[in-house]
Amino acid sequence: MLMQTDAPRAPADPVARRRTFAIISHPDAGKTTLTEKLLLFGGAIQLAGEVKAKRNRVSTRSDWMGIEKERGISVVTSVMTFEYGDCVFNLLDTPGHEDFSEDTYRTLTAVDSAVMVIDAAKGIEARTRKLFEVCRLRDIPIVTFVNKLDRESRDPFDLLDEIEKTLALDVAPVTWPIGRGRSFAGTYDLLRRRVRRLDAADDAGTVPVSGLDDPLFDTLLPEAGDAATWREEAELAEGGCKPFDLDAFREGHLTPVFFGSALRNFGVRDLIDGLADVAPPPRGQDADTRAVAPTEPKMTGFVFKIQANMDPNHRDRIAFMRVCSGKLSRGMKAKLVRTGKPISLSAPQFFFAQDRAIADEAYAGDVVGIPNHGTLRIGDTLTEGEELVFRGVPSFAPELLRRIKLTDAMKAKKLREALQQMAEEGVVQLFLPQDGSSAIVGVVGALQLDVLKERLQAEYGLPIDYEPTRFTICRWIESEDQAELDKFVGSHGSSMASDLDGAPVFMATTGFSLKYEEERAPAIRFTDVKDYQ
Ligand code: G4P
Repeated sequence: MLMQTDAPRAPADPVARRRTFAIISHPDAGKTTLTEKLLLFGGAIQLAGEVKAKRNRVSTRSDWMGIEKERGISVVTSVMTFEYGDCVFNLLDTPGHEDFSEDTYRTLTAVDSAVMVIDAAKGIEARTRKLFEVCRLRDIPIVTFVNKLDRESRDPFDLLDEIEKTLALDVAPVTWPIGRGRSFAGTYDLLRRRVRRLDAADDAGTVPVSGLDDPLFDTLLPEAGDAATWREEAELAEGGCKPFDLDAFREGHLTPVFFGSALRNFGVRDLIDGLADVAPPPRGQDADTRAVAPTEPKMTGFVFKIQANMDPNHRDRIAFMRVCSGKLSRGMKAKLVRTGKPISLSAPQFFFAQDRAIADEAYAGDVVGIPNHGTLRIGDTLTEGEELVFRGVPSFAPELLRRIKLTDAMKAKKLREALQQMAEEGVVQLFLPQDGSSAIVGVVGALQLDVLKERLQAEYGLPIDYEPTRFTICRWIESEDQAELDKFVGSHGSSMASDLDGAPVFMATTGFSLKYEEERAPAIRFTDVKDYQ
């Protein structure tokens, strides 16, 4: 049971009905608006079922944070679970700001599909493309939503062509816009020959039509010549575009395309129905020892996100875990593989738009929040006893390195503890230099430095400043030959540090010096991405 509701239960197979996805887009394309509308569909069902579980009214976003308010961006990833039709959807929100791309990458390790939102006037933009590349690396199938059709837009063929060419992805339009901008009147379902009218109340029903000759199109496009032009266009779309192919989609080679307007809540129902129909249920996950199937009876999962201070009234820390197999039951004991110690899952939580509720049971594909006081870290694997570790939650070599300057030297120990915690949450990376000098923090984007500073002050009463370091680049180093590795570490003492896991990190002052060392030490691998351990 997902939630304690009186609503009729959906069909039995809990894994097959899960859809865990994220929305990828360039800022301003309409991700937030679309998220809200998707939740409306799920929200109605929740209200009808009256969730009985004790709920706290909290924000899923850390809007307590001054920084976020000031800059009007969301700096944290959140997850929203909702039911629609027979499906349970887990929508993982990804922060829009580029500085938080690391968080976004990690979130994408926990989804099975993604919705790519494109602004119909702008087409594929830089960040969409970057996020798409991450999805492609992980073979995540993409459903496309072309948004803002109610505004002046580019020609739909032109947009499809751009997706095909710039992303090397086949396109299969499922709906086709009837008019654009001021003349936008609805969409035509190319597969089922049905029209969804913009003027129909609440994105409700569709009207069947006999075909492209149907006189309804003349009514919807009354300007002289518009209907005729549209018919030619739609005929081309029907006959000329690739038909939808489930295998090609699931393998990440083809994207079904929906047109609509998130703001007008138009076309969103087709999108969510499409996700229910074709988006894949939870996938198997690779662990170090074997592949884990979602239908296995024993519970496994991995932590991809830690979030602190979700509720300003309770200083809590939530680890977001994707369940990979089995059933997670409230109160069960799991094994935290990194330490070998048991952890009691006494209050796992589901998150909704504004609320959270205790999760009595969760299945593969679900994302649950586990409250803890620093026991869990990003990348942690939980099992029912098996020694296995899920791979692929990445850590990226930071692009900015700073030393921390503490104004009150008495608080050095407290600072160490605080930095350790922030690093475990993934706010920053922490490097402890081998020569014993003060800690270096590394970030992918500058905004993370502001967040760290503000949180150290607000949560630990630690006023800090940053100082530049002579290092500009760092790389994890590995080698099959332990003696070579030891030799390198020994001879580069003043440029060596260790990360949170104690792994050796080489720090270079310039790209040139990094290259020089790489050439001189062929037995050593210098890497800029590392799996959490
Ligand atoms: P993001 O999360 O991807 O950054 O985008 P968001 O949903 O915040 O949307 C960005 C802007 O685009 C918002 O306008 C939003 O209202 C508008 N928008 C989203 N979908 C549509 C659509 O289908 N049609 C039209 N015409 N506009 C759309 P804003 O003026 O920046 O913000 P607001 O003051 O309206 O909230």
